[in-house]
Formats: sequence, C-alpha cells, structure tokens
Amino acid sequence: MSFSIPRRPRRNRQSAAIRDLVQETNVSVNDLIFPMFLVDGSGVKSEVKSMPGIYRFSTDTLLEELRELTDLGIKAIDLFPNYDESKKDRLATESYRQDTFYLKALRAVKENFPDLALMTDVAMDPYSSDGHDGLVENGQIVNDATLEILGKMALAQAQAGADILGPSDMMDGRVGYIRQVLDAEGFTNVSIMSYTAKYASAFYGPFRDALDSAPRFGDKKTYQMNPANRREALIEADLDTSEGADFLMVKPALAYLDIIRELNNNFDLPIAAYNVSGEYAMVKAAAQNGWLDGDRAMLEMLLSIKRAGAKVILTYFAKEFAQLKA
Ligand code: PBG
Repeated sequence: MSFSIPRRPRRNRQSAAIRDLVQETNVSVNDLIFPMFLVDGSGVKSEVKSMPGIYRFSTDTLLEELRELTDLGIKAIDLFPNYDESKKDRLATESYRQDTFYLKALRAVKENFPDLALMTDVAMDPYSSDGHDGLVENGQIVNDATLEILGKMALAQAQAGADILGPSDMMDGRVGYIRQVLDAEGFTNVSIMSYTAKYASAFYGPFRDALDSAPRFGDKKTYQMNPANRREALIEADLDTSEGADFLMVKPALAYLDIIRELNNNFDLPIAAYNVSGEYAMVKAAAQNGWLDGDRAMLEMLLSIKRAGAKVILTYFAKEFAQLKA
C-alpha cells in the first residue's frame, strides 16, 4: 500500500512559540558596530540632514552619548572625524599629526569606556583636499605612496587606543603594509577589519555629506570595485587573508548580499558587512513619509544581512535596534 503524506510547512509557522523555535537567524546587539561622527569643538550635537537621527558629536557630547549607548548594551563603535576644510591638504598630514582633536577623542573614549571596542577608519578622504582615499598625483590615485601615509595614520590611531583599524581605501597591499607597521611598533594586538570588497557605490552619499568628504574631481572607480563583479571579491578576500586581516568586510550590504554569502562560503575569517549611509537614509525617508514601517524594515534588513552570512554588521541603526530590544 502506498500513500503520500501531504507536506504542510505551515505547521511550523502556526504560533509565535513554534516560529521562535524554528527561527534560523537572530540579530543581537553583540553583532553590531555603531558608526559615529566626531567634530572639533564642544557642546556640539548636530544632525546629519540626510541621516535623520544621526549626529555629529564633539568629544564631550560623544562621551555623554556613549554612556547611554553602553547602557543599552552597545559594545562597539566606529568613530569617523569631520575635519574643517582648512585642515585638509594633499598629503592628509592632519591624519597622523599628534594630538589632533580626533586622536585626543580616541584616548578619551578608551579612558572612559575601556570595555568598548573602538574602531577607526584608515583612508585619506576626510583629511584630503582632493577628497580621495589615496594620494593624487597628476590626476591619478597613486597606490604605493599612499601606503606610507596610511601606515602613519594607522599607527597614530593605534597609539591613541583604537582596537580595530578599518582600512577603507582599497589600495593594493595596504592590509599587509599596515600589519607590518603595527607589529614593528609593538601593536600586535590591534586588529584589522579590512574593507575587502568595497564597491564604488551610490549608497555612500549621505556619509560624504556627514564628513564633507566627497571627491573634488572624478569618482572612486579606479580603486573601489565595480558593482558588477563577484569573482573579483574572492581575489580581494584571498589577498586580505594572506596579508593578515582579522575580519573581511563587504560594503555596502544590501545590494551585495550575494557577495557576503560568497565570502562566508569560501573563507573562515569572520565576515562583516557595512549597512551604509544610503541604506539607512532610504529607510528613514520612506518611514518619515509613512510609506513603510521603519522598525520592521530595519529588523528585516539587519536579519537579511546576518542570514546572508555576516557575523558583524556596521549599522547606523545600532542605537535604535538596541532601544527596540531593550
Ligand atoms: C571612507 C569611507 C566611506 C565610507 C566609510 N569609509 C566613504 C567612501 O568611500 O566614499 C562610507 C560609509 C557609509 O556610506 O555609511 N573611505
């Protein structure tokens, strides 16, 4: 006798308790890094127009905010400095000058919040009068001369207390170069989260508003990756792994979930994804217009990034997520 048992997948969706039992992916505040913006001065908390709910803080207001964030369970931040035009030059010298407001703020954060994981960005753009991530010579972004500047910047950030350095510049060989500089100076415990597969994306627009760091000419296509390419991400991941990266990052996240999965399938290092400014701004704009439910859209986005294979998510939603879960 043969009979067929009807498959009824809906049985596993019939109650909240059963749905929770079979839920495959969860996002926790432990997975999140909160990118934050710092400006010189004191008493500043100014909203980034294209990123509602995200502010540029001065060091004093940042420290107050960090009290709230750590109380909410946030354990990691990535701090980006906004420099006045007058401080920028071709060589990004302000990025490694001692005792800048940024390096002092890193020290203050570490002193006041020793348990917080403090990440920094290694790239020339916020300090460069050209607004590029690398050194410009005759209209070209020159690779190897940039490495020397990145090495000095990385060292200055490590000396100021950064726990994780995020080279976001996409120069060839920078992970290995920075690793050597750090090790030679005794900073063997400072981690590198490499922006491994960083694409030349339209979704960075609001971030460049926040830092006034848009390129002054041209675009970033000779160093950031072509959005059309998947296999090339494997080349970058191979290089970063062999050069000593501790994390491999994909950026942006949402339009590149397949790349996150690809790296997760092929590499053993923890995979991170950067849920970038434009992805945040889209949800905020639609929610403010009443066109979608912002909280649900946020949760679904973060879940999708985790499900694709990212263990770590850099996201401007970190505080809101923590508040929602609190
Ligand atoms: C700097 C840098 C950028 C971002 C992180 N680091 C901008 C860029 O490459 O132009 C983007 C972050 C975001 O959009 O949220 N190299």
